[in-house]
Amino acid sequence: MLHAQDERCPHLGAALSKGRIAADRIVCPFHGFEYDGAGHCRLIPANGKDGRIPAGMQVRTYPVRELQGLVFLWWGPERDTYPELPFFEDLLSGWRMSTMAVDWPVHYTRAIENQLDVAHIPFVHKSTIGAGGREFVDGPYVVADDSSIRVWTTNSVDPERPSRSQAELAESAAGRPPILHLQLPGLWMLLISPTFRNLIAFVPINEQKTRYYLRAYHQVRNPLLARPFEFLLGLSNRFILNQDRRVVVTQRPLRSADAGHDRLIGADRAIAQYRRWHARALGSSAPALQPAREQAQKGQEESPVAFPGITEDVADIRSPLE
Ligand code: FES
Ligand SMILES: [Fe+2]
Repeated sequence: MLHAQDERCPHLGAALSKGRIAADRIVCPFHGFEYDGAGHCRLIPANGKDGRIPAGMQVRTYPVRELQGLVFLWWGPERDTYPELPFFEDLLSGWRMSTMAVDWPVHYTRAIENQLDVAHIPFVHKSTIGAGGREFVDGPYVVADDSSIRVWTTNSVDPERPSRSQAELAESAAGRPPILHLQLPGLWMLLISPTFRNLIAFVPINEQKTRYYLRAYHQVRNPLLARPFEFLLGLSNRFILNQDRRVVVTQRPLRSADAGHDRLIGADRAIAQYRRWHARALGSSAPALQPAREQAQKGQEESPVAFPGITEDVADIRSPLE
């Protein structure tokens, strides 16, 4: 059974993460106080086994839920019911996947925006996925609502005509799945081909650090082929991601919420939508579910921090560029 609790021991403030788990309790490394899964102190050794436990000797706990190997944490006030966990319906079955985790010294807003950015590819990834000089962005066409941002785009060499109108792009997007799909607050998918997807769960660690859980989903079923294929995918994804990293770490200010002076262009439509959603979400008292960490990594030391809240009234976001 998973639990998420504040790290600080309410006694003298030591880090409970440096303690140990014993019989479903966490034992503080400093004076051995024991807390159960609900955060109640059950034992103060200095007071004896039957000794008094003062009211308020309690650690705050957070609701957690698991889906598809991801742990989601509710950062806000407790509720009777919680929103559906975000995930991609068509990835629920029929796929194999491999995963990797990397930490970047960036704010999560810059990390997420980088994956909504359709104009950087021929520059940042010139030697890989951006080869061919397809610098012109036809669109993108972006559909945003309170729970997701979906992006259709075509990159080409400069056709020496303007991008198609949003209405024309909408028509050509009809019936086609988006190339990029962000389920807010931080679950992203790239459609590479019908049988090949990348997914990133963005986990804010703190103001200067974001963890990426990058999963490559594929349909190579033969395990003898799947293993080497996944190994190669891992290598190439790491290489491509490092091309982004090199530039994204240089962005200032760190948080895009502070970047009111950025001058966005039409190709940045998805980024603009994300910023609008984010500003609305930050202005709300409503909390968010976030992918807290991948189960395989849950023994790691650091705890994720809050992802800003999803508001429930963010419907009908329109791009400021339209
Ligand atoms: S600080 Fe945790 S038991 Fe004293
Ligand atoms: Fe990139």
